[in-house]
Amino acid sequence: MSQPRRVTRLVRGMPTSDGAGVRLTRVIGIPELRNLDPFLMLDHFGSEQAADYIAGFPNHPHRGFETVTYMLEGRMRHRDNQGNEGLLTSGSVQWMTAGRGLIHSEMPEQEEGRMSGFQLWINLPARDKMTAPRYQDIAPERIPEFEPLAGAKVRVLAGEFASVKGPVDAAATSPLYLDIALPAGASLSVPVPSGHTAFAYVFEGKAALAGQPVSTDVMALLSEGDTVEVAAPESAARLILVAGRPLREPIVQHGPFVMNHAHEIHQAIADYQAGKFGPLQV
Ligand code: FE2
Repeated sequence: MSQPRRVTRLVRGMPTSDGAGVRLTRVIGIPELRNLDPFLMLDHFGSEQAADYIAGFPNHPHRGFETVTYMLEGRMRHRDNQGNEGLLTSGSVQWMTAGRGLIHSEMPEQEEGRMSGFQLWINLPARDKMTAPRYQDIAPERIPEFEPLAGAKVRVLAGEFASVKGPVDAAATSPLYLDIALPAGASLSVPVPSGHTAFAYVFEGKAALAGQPVSTDVMALLSEGDTVEVAAPESAARLILVAGRPLREPIVQHGPFVMNHAHEIHQAIADYQAGKFGPLQV
């Protein structure tokens, strides 16, 4: 028998800035919601004003987790200190497994127009934290998109919905990552793996999760269960629905280093300073 998930908590994102001064809304990784195992951070960026994004994210390191950038609109150039480079365009996803570490930059490749999207940080289990860095750069056309009901649109970035599989391979947390757009009046039952931590974040219009209204820029944390009812009772709505298997391991975070124990953080800082992440400039 199916067990519908309910909303356990609503969290409104906090305006902040990061990188060299990019204005964004942080939803996971704020005092009210430090983390949400296996998720460590969720940022939503979106602005028409170049001044809000143009400074980008110059050289910075990562170790111990994955960063997932979903570009809704805009162009962002990615470069790392190991010779990897890519251009994130509207509708694409970059799933980066930082593993033992790299230094990279993420810079807008536009001087005007709207830039919007999400960056999600997903933790890695202890056994994978020192794995070799890996990229899954996924072009927009590789993300399957379908219409579960008239006027609705679902993109499957990771995981599976209605036998449609997303392109991302992330075995440690088996994530589900859906972009769901619903017309006014639509309602959809979405399977979410049991035992996964799950949330929805509404970024356009107003939605209802399990019957509970959720406004724009609000995250709904979901209870245990194997499905969730997503609806747009008043107006069209667009949201991301994300789930992942919790790791249930200790989390020690120091900025862009996320390990299990303090001594591993000290090691990460020492390795970074000793050049063991590779050259400091990309
Ligand atoms: Fe980064």
